[in-house]
Amino acid sequence: MARYAHITGWGMSVPSRVLTNEELARTVDTTSEWIVERTGIRERRVASPQQTTASLATDAALKALAAAGLSPRQVQLIIVATSSPEHIFPATACLVQDRIGASSAGAFDLSAACTGFVYALSVASQMIQTGAFENALVIGSETLSRIVNWNDRSTCVLFGDGAGALVLQSSSRPGGVVAFSMHSDGSGGDLLSLPAGGSRFPATHETIDQGLHFVSMNGREVYRFATRVMATATREVLAKAGYVLAEVDLIIPHQANQRIIEAAAKQLRVSMDRFFVNVDRYGNTSTASIPIAICEAFAAGRLHVGDRVVLVGFGAGLTWGAALLQWVARAPVPAARWRLSGRFIFRAMAWLRSALRRLSRRIEAFFLGERGDTGRP
Ligand code: ACO
Repeated sequence: MARYAHITGWGMSVPSRVLTNEELARTVDTTSEWIVERTGIRERRVASPQQTTASLATDAALKALAAAGLSPRQVQLIIVATSSPEHIFPATACLVQDRIGASSAGAFDLSAACTGFVYALSVASQMIQTGAFENALVIGSETLSRIVNWNDRSTCVLFGDGAGALVLQSSSRPGGVVAFSMHSDGSGGDLLSLPAGGSRFPATHETIDQGLHFVSMNGREVYRFATRVMATATREVLAKAGYVLAEVDLIIPHQANQRIIEAAAKQLRVSMDRFFVNVDRYGNTSTASIPIAICEAFAAGRLHVGDRVVLVGFGAGLTWGAALLQWVARAPVPAARWRLSGRFIFRAMAWLRSALRRLSRRIEAFFLGERGDTGRP
């Protein structure tokens, strides 16, 4: 029997701190007019010192699970797409798994820059369609404010922080993730990168002095690449599924720049009112931009049962890709236990479980001591 990966829950989390263009113009040599004209961005969110990629991802994940009426303990797979992970390792997905108490889930991070969410959704949908898993939590989460050089006007005006999450569940009814495409071209890897902190340039005083731990970008080249691939990826995913553009109800593009989206619309000969755009309020939140846009599109009444929706993204790598969805979910009706501060209870239970596991590891180490089985003779 055919299996389909339905989207049954969605949630987003953005920091409350709003950083406007006007505020930025007080600290770097720019103007709000320049930023709006070249990018369409008016403001972005910036994480507080307490907020991290994992904490935003955890908030978004719990909201998505609440919307799906799925308990964290039932979650089987967690994929976090991120360009600003909590650490190189452990994976941010493992921290989310622990914090929500998803004790049965496998968890890993996926690195494909801003296309990461489309990649992660495609991987998760295949895991479900093959029967390997019954459900998956797919998250895009970023604290790009931590890796942006706030003195570099050519990049700091573009990016923002936030997270979005989707719950996928298996179903025998057609719908959900219908088709996807994924592409990469590593010859353009230098056009957009975080040069240091990996094995090529480990952290040293010199890498810090040279600013190599900040986002580095050739804006014009990335712009040219982006306008080219948004239209081709959209056409490709539709062709794969046997649909034409006229049959698409909504296109949710990666929110990097209003002009890039308008150029894609022009190439596709689709009017802008069939695109969902919120880049003006969040800037480029990389992997989080598409799931945040999905949440806002639903809240704005732009997603209905039966709608065909194209998600299309591009990013560092270079990477690009698209996914075609058939929207199947109605407004979420969280189970009663979720409405009654369920998220707080699940968080508290997860914290307790995690603390007990750490304690039991310490006790084990104390009693086994040198006699523990470390493989030593
Ligand atoms: N304020 C004022 N002037 C600026 C600013 C600013 N914030 N930033 C750059 N300028 C200047 C430049 O120095 C340049 O001056 P010059 O002509 O004297 O050298 C001038 O404005 C024009 O610069 P361009 O780079 O040609 O400006 P452009 O119109 O291309 O816009 C932008 C720049 C917005 C960065 C654009 O190229 C762009 O959006 N590129 C794509 C970036 C992107 O989407 N990146 C994310 C990819 S997804 C991911 O993986 C994270």
